[in-house]
Amino acid sequence: MNETLEMIKERRSIRKYQAKLPTKEEIEMVVQAGLEAASGMNRQPVHILAVTQKALRDKLSAANAKVGNFEAGVDPFYGAPVVLVVLADKRCPTYLYDGSLAMGNMMLAAKSIGLGSCWIHRAKEEFEQAEFKSLLKELGVEGDFEGIGHCILGYPDQEAQAHPIQANRVTWVE
Ligand SMILES: Cc1cc2nc3c(=O)[nH]c(=O)nc-3n(C[C@H](O)[C@H](O)[C@H](O)COP(=O)(O)O)c2cc1C
Repeated sequence: MNETLEMIKERRSIRKYQAKLPTKEEIEMVVQAGLEAASGMNRQPVHILAVTQKALRDKLSAANAKVGNFEAGVDPFYGAPVVLVVLADKRCPTYLYDGSLAMGNMMLAAKSIGLGSCWIHRAKEEFEQAEFKSLLKELGVEGDFEGIGHCILGYPDQEAQAHPIQANRVTWVE
């Protein structure tokens, strides 16, 4: 098995992180992998909000917990210090697929450099809120964006949890 296939096989969601912030260079490598993802007709409708600022990271966590109806004090980002929010411009017909692929690329890139990651949902509901819409505006992020997912990132503080891959999900026609 080559390195890429091994990476794909070994990537697993990490749900416990060290508080230490990954280096900017590491984060940039993951972000770049998201930007390099294929997109329908190469329209590249994805924008990534790369959050390392604790105040905003915590605000997103609180909003996410509220959307998810989580118990008080639960951090849906599992203590990860970095949150990469994938946004995709709805004016592009393939935006949802394009955004999802960017998420996949970033999770694999994270694994390849020894970082943990996990897709955290509810970005759509978050970025429908006036507070986060105006945040995008303030930051100069222009477009008709939908939140696709959060790729949380950090140094893992747990072993990856292997799980079986369900059988009978391929039908060959040869
Ligand atoms: C669309 C999508 C949404 C997900 N949302 C969450 C989430 O909100 N919280 C979470 O802990 N994991 C979430 N996950 C991670 C899945 O639970 C995880 O990928 C799945 O259990 C398989 O485990 P693995 O990633 O270790 O292979 C999500 C994954 C996807 C693809």
